[in-house]
Amino acid sequence: MWLVLLILITLGINFCHLSYSNDNEYAVIKLQCYFESFGNDGFGCRTVNLTSNSRRTFIKSILRLSTTNSKSKSKATNNDVNTFYSYNGNITFIPKQIGEHFPNLNNFIITKTGLKYIEWRDFKHMGHLEMIKLNENKIEAISQCAFHYLENLKSINLDGNRIQILPLKLLTNLPNLTEFSANDNDITHLMTEMFKENQNLKTLLMNRNKIEVIEIDFHGWNIDRVEFKNNTCINMKYICCAHVIFKNFTEHIKKNCGGPDFC
Ligand SMILES: *[C@@H]1O[C@H](CO)[C@@H](O)[C@H](O)[C@H]1NC(C)=O
Ligand SMILES: *[C@@H]1O[C@H](CO)[C@@H](O)[C@H](O)[C@H]1NC(C)=O
Ligand SMILES: *[C@@H]1O[C@H](CO)[C@@H](O)[C@H](O)[C@H]1NC(C)=O
Ligand SMILES: *[C@@H]1O[C@H](CO)[C@@H](O)[C@H](O)[C@H]1NC(C)=O
Ligand SMILES: *[C@@H]1O[C@H](CO)[C@@H](O)[C@H](O)[C@H]1NC(C)=O
Repeated sequence: MWLVLLILITLGINFCHLSYSNDNEYAVIKLQCYFESFGNDGFGCRTVNLTSNSRRTFIKSILRLSTTNSKSKSKATNNDVNTFYSYNGNITFIPKQIGEHFPNLNNFIITKTGLKYIEWRDFKHMGHLEMIKLNENKIEAISQCAFHYLENLKSINLDGNRIQILPLKLLTNLPNLTEFSANDNDITHLMTEMFKENQNLKTLLMNRNKIEVIEIDFHGWNIDRVEFKNNTCINMKYICCAHVIFKNFTEHIKKNCGGPDFC
């Protein structure tokens, strides 16, 4: 009976859990970070020497480092931290439990690391996130459930990674998403359902990918800025250009191999 339950639980969990590698080494780390002011009214945790090379890397505690000019910030607690910022970390996976230590994060930034995989539980307990910026890493795969409970998200930046496929349901449940940027990746296909639930999207940037097919019908959208420059060869046969209401769309895909297909 317990065995059956265990199997069911495992199946349930695996529903959103893509397996990429057998790297299951368990690691517990102490997160070292500088507390710095970020924006007008909050603090950032800027990590130092962050190492996380297994999907089972958990944060046991936070070690606060303080900069010499931050006396006034010494009273800041983990609850005051609104920004997590990691630059140049030695990471393949995002360490787990960041959201449990910093329950009020609005901004999450990881840049110039070896980050390869975004997993379904990476943003757990981060329901206040408004901005995720994961540019210039080595991201290959993103779980379709990764952003699912981040209803307040307004902007996602995945520029400069190695993404080939955006999971179909990646952006469902994000009604307030206004900006999605994935320039400089290897994405080949944008399927019909991709931005279906993001009716507030204003900016969509996907320059320098390998897009061949765009199935999305942007009809009726109030979108301001769309860029698909320097992709491989966009075939527009699934949408009728007459529906495309944003300015200068053809201008943006002109440099693709065949130019736009007209309806
Ligand atoms: C981070 O790593 C560098 C190089 O190993 C070391 O010199 C430095 O002291 C470390 N910083 C902290 C805060 O641990
Ligand atoms: C990164 O971390 C791994 C351990 O996870 C270690 O073996 C490796 O030397 C580290 N690389 C750098 C550049 O610090
Ligand atoms: C979306 O934004 C509107 C207006 O800013 C806000 O009232 C609403 O609560 C937001 N919805 C979610 C799910 O965050
Ligand atoms: C597109 O490619 C052309 C020719 O390689 C280059 O001049 C231009 O800057 C590129 N545009 C963008 C937005 O990458
Ligand atoms: C559209 O493209 C044309 C030709 O490149 C340019 O002259 C015009 O300013 C563009 N309009 C907008 C709104 O960007």
